[in-house]
Amino acid sequence: MLAGRRVVLAVSGGVAAFKAAFLARRIIEAGADVRTVMTDSACRFLGPQTMAALTGTPPVLDLFDQEDVSPHTSLARWADAIVVAPATAATISRLANGLSDGALAATVLAAKCPVVVAPAMHTEMWEHPATTRNMATLRSDGCVIAGPVSGALAGGDEGPGRMLEPEQILEILAGVFTPGPMEGWRVVVSAGGTREAIDPVRYVGNRSSGKMGNAVAVAAADAGAAVTLVTTVAAPSHSRIDVVPVESAQEMAEAVWAAATGSDVAVLAAAVADFRPADPVTGKLRRAQGPPEINLEPTPDILAGVAAMENRPYLVGFAAEVGSLEGAIDKAQRKGVDLLVANDIAKPGSGFGTETNEVTLITPDGATLPWEMLSKPAVAEKLVAEIVRRRGAAGSS
Ligand code: PMT
Repeated sequence: MLAGRRVVLAVSGGVAAFKAAFLARRIIEAGADVRTVMTDSACRFLGPQTMAALTGTPPVLDLFDQEDVSPHTSLARWADAIVVAPATAATISRLANGLSDGALAATVLAAKCPVVVAPAMHTEMWEHPATTRNMATLRSDGCVIAGPVSGALAGGDEGPGRMLEPEQILEILAGVFTPGPMEGWRVVVSAGGTREAIDPVRYVGNRSSGKMGNAVAVAAADAGAAVTLVTTVAAPSHSRIDVVPVESAQEMAEAVWAAATGSDVAVLAAAVADFRPADPVTGKLRRAQGPPEINLEPTPDILAGVAAMENRPYLVGFAAEVGSLEGAIDKAQRKGVDLLVANDIAKPGSGFGTETNEVTLITPDGATLPWEMLSKPAVAEKLVAEIVRRRGAAGSS
């Protein structure tokens, strides 16, 4: 995967900088051409001459190199990928804020290629809310994050913040050049619970937090898909997720149907109200008026709408059941889905608002495949792999 690639190794100033020399060697052994850019503090931990000798090219050390009028843009245009290793808290902060006050940060800011960031710092700095914020920004800017892990740190300390080993970073770097299994796919995901207005203040709703749907959107985006996430709740930030905020079943139906046209896959994890107040009141209902009589009418069946589409996407529904899975098996056979993901919402750790979920996959022929209790991101990752396998097997990709 790395043979013939051009990799810029960007080294910032932490004790883990010595590992950058080993990393440079591993990348070269994998067949890539390596150039380096180093911060001033990196040069205190690792001699630029070492990197020059290993890579055959002197590192770029500042923006005012006499030989090249614009070393940062030259390097950024040359690169097929950039690896920032180690990425200190200060460098991460610069990158997250687009602060191009040195050769390293300016090179990353000028780059259009994939950027792998391998953080290394003390635990206190790694766990500081500012670093957490900066890492979230880098993730949503599309950077690939490599580590850190927990282990021995500078000064005899121990804990989370240790940089990954060069071999592990190399593997992640190679992954950048490996297309994800959903590369080129368009995927629509619904998440959260709909709200159906009773009056301008009150609504008919449910307990969905959106965690399950959000996790599916992230897993599909991580697998390379361009995702449209139609949601009633706060959405994760990801460079490949396009968020459509909605509130009611009607709004969700319109957004899902629009996005599903021409999509490869639709995963409907939202908890959609089946009924809504037929005549929502425009003014606020007053207690003094006594209990209102609320007439309900059916909402659009979003899943059925997608199932009825010509050239419809591979369709995955979710089913919230209590106790028995019989209702879900019936839905899998009746609703026109390719796959139904059933969860027993009465089971502790499963269903609404939980961090985990225990699901059973059901196919339209009634076959069931129970999975163990997993975190919602793990369920989502497994589900994405299952969709890739089944849709590929159906010959529709
Ligand atoms: O959001 P979390 O807190 O993480 O919780 C996750 C979850 C429990 C909401 C999720 O795992 C789940 O089960 N979602 C589906 C909930 C649900 O509405 O189930 P249902 O059996 O009522 O609906 C079956 C399917 O039809 C679902 O794919 C639903 O999106 C869809 N539907 C339902 C009603 C409607 N009017 N239109 C629809 O498309």
